[in-house]
Parts: sequence; structure tokens; C-alpha cells
Amino acid sequence: MSLFNFAVAKTIMHVPRPIVSYFAKGYIAGSTLDDAVRVSKDLNRQGMMTTIDILGEFITQFDQAVSFKDQALEILQTIDREQLDGNLSIKPTQMGLLLDKNRCFELIQELVVEAQKLGSFVRIDMEDIGTTDATLEIFDHLRKEYPGHVGTVLQSYLHRTPQDIVDHVEGYQNYRLCKGIYVEPRLHAWKNPQAINRNFIHCLELMLKQGAYAAIATHDELLVYETMHLVRKLGLSPDKYEFQMLLGVDEELREIILKEGHRLRIYVPYGVDWLPYSRRRLKENPSIAQHALKQMLGLNKH
Ligand code: FDA
Repeated sequence: MSLFNFAVAKTIMHVPRPIVSYFAKGYIAGSTLDDAVRVSKDLNRQGMMTTIDILGEFITQFDQAVSFKDQALEILQTIDREQLDGNLSIKPTQMGLLLDKNRCFELIQELVVEAQKLGSFVRIDMEDIGTTDATLEIFDHLRKEYPGHVGTVLQSYLHRTPQDIVDHVEGYQNYRLCKGIYVEPRLHAWKNPQAINRNFIHCLELMLKQGAYAAIATHDELLVYETMHLVRKLGLSPDKYEFQMLLGVDEELREIILKEGHRLRIYVPYGVDWLPYSRRRLKENPSIAQHALKQMLGLNKH
């Protein structure tokens, strides 16, 4: 890592809002649902599906959770009305998981019921390790009652993930698999990038062989290559899995995936609560800040 990237990664949590906003613009559709619809329509036209997420997490009052649930219902209804090729992603802590697990379950259930009514789908994102058991428990209840309309996320940096896959072998399984973005203790999470990647492919193979629908969420070219190799080896048709990428990241890789005949969904976040999301993205890839800075200084011109 260059000195610049190291400095960005170390200090990003203290960088003021306007500066983060400048660097993070490309990762977020805008502040309103209309922005997310506009971006989704554009991506749909280019042959990509989307998943829309309203930004917000780790809330402190339960009425905030109810408000997020109402906004998420509006997303599902708007997707239906505007005939978008898209679905909904939510965060459990946004729905009050850390305040009241039972009420959080009820809010998420309300969303999944609506998704079932509209023929849509709700993806429950995975957050830090303090929420893993509760999130899987919620998913486990919902997948039995509403198969085809709910999925969750598993993280390949966690030691436990292969076992979690095996533990859910019975019944409907639908996972987004990603590396994982939170800073977890080494006793629970692999730190070596190669171990995280090997576990990713190990988990993917496990879930696909168990008959799960898998959403492969990565911008890592090696994992994209390994996935393409694996689905070919297993003889899977493209409707059994999809790739997923974040808005604003590596458009060339998008083209490669589509050109090879795979399906691709873009994660489209919107909202006013963009700061924690953007800080995580910049911490993850400080070179974005470097590119933006060069552009600002006119150093990127050919
Ligand atoms: P890696 O970080 O190695 O990046 C591979 C390449 O992509 C590098 O060249 C890197 O520079 C580039 N890149 C990666 N991230 C970038 C960025 N933000 N901007 C620009 N370039 C970037 N995590 C989680 O814990 N819970 C969740 O629910 C989700 N949900 C989710 C949905 C979707 C659709 C995606 C794509 C990712 C997530 N994640 C997530 C985040 C995920 O766990 C992981 O942190 C990031 O995807 C980065 O890991 P990569 O696999 O892309 O590899």
C-alpha cells in the first residue's frame, strides 16, 4: 500500500463530511428514491439488474426502524410500479436488530410479505459479527415461510461460514457471498487475503453443490475467474447464480462478466445517511481518493 493510501485508510474516520462527500459521490445514486430509480433504469437498459438500498444503519431509536421499514416498503412498491429489474437490500441494524430482535423480525417479515405479494425479493445484508447469529436466525425463520422472496449474506472472512452453509442444507437457500467488510477479531475472521479467497471459493462450491442460489459479490478478478470456472465445472445454467458489484466500482469488470453471458446485479444505495457507507468504501479502497484527487488537480489528463 502506498503512503497516500495508508494515510487515507488510517484517517478516513476523522475526515470531514464535505471531503468524504466529494470522494464518495460515485458510490451513491443520490439522496432520494427518484435518484435510485433513475440509476436503476439506466443500469437495466445496459443489461444489469439492481438491488436498491436506503442508507442507514445502527439506529438508536425504534421509531427510526419503523421509518426505515416504511421507506423500504416504498422501494418495493416503486420497483413494481416502475417495472424495474431490481430488488431490495436492507440492513438488520437499520430495522432495529440491536434494540429489539422480535420487533426487528416483525418489520423484516412485513417487507418479505410485501415482496411475496409483488413477486419481489428482500436481501438481508450481513453486518458485524455481533449480529451474525441473530441475522441468520431471522433468515432461517423467513426462508421457510417465504421461499423465493428472501435471502441473506455470508462472509468468507469468517471462520464459521462453511459450517453455517452446512447447517442450512435443508430447504430453500439463497445467499449473497462476499469477503466481508467489518473489522473483526482474528479469532473469528481470516486476515490473510489468500485465506479469505480460498474460503470464498470453498463456501461457494459448498453452497452451489447444496442447491443454493448464489450471488457472487466481488470485484476481485481472481474470484470472478474462479467462479466462472466453478459454474462451468458444475454445469450450472446462468439462472442458478448471479454476480453482484457495487455502484461505481470497476465498470470494465462489469463488461467482462456480461460479455461472458453471466447475470450481474448492481448494488444501488441512496439516501441522506451516506457518511458511514462512504467512509467504509474509502477505507476499503483508498486509491479512489487518489484518483479523485488527481482529477481535481488535473493530473489525470492524457
Ligand atoms: P477486494 O477488496 O480485494 O477488491 C478487488 C478489487 O476491486 C481491487 O482492485 C479493489 O481496488 C477494487 N475495489 C474493491 N472495493 C472497491 C471500492 N469500494 N471502490 C473501488 N474499487 C474497489 N460486506 C459485508 O460485510 N456485508 C454485506 O452485506 C455486503 N454486501 C455487499 C454487496 C455487494 C453487491 C458487494 C459487491 C459487496 C458487499 N460487501 C458486503 C462488501 C464486501 O464484503 C467486500 O468488502 C467488498 O466487496 C470488497 O471486496 P472484493 O471482493 O471486491 O475484493
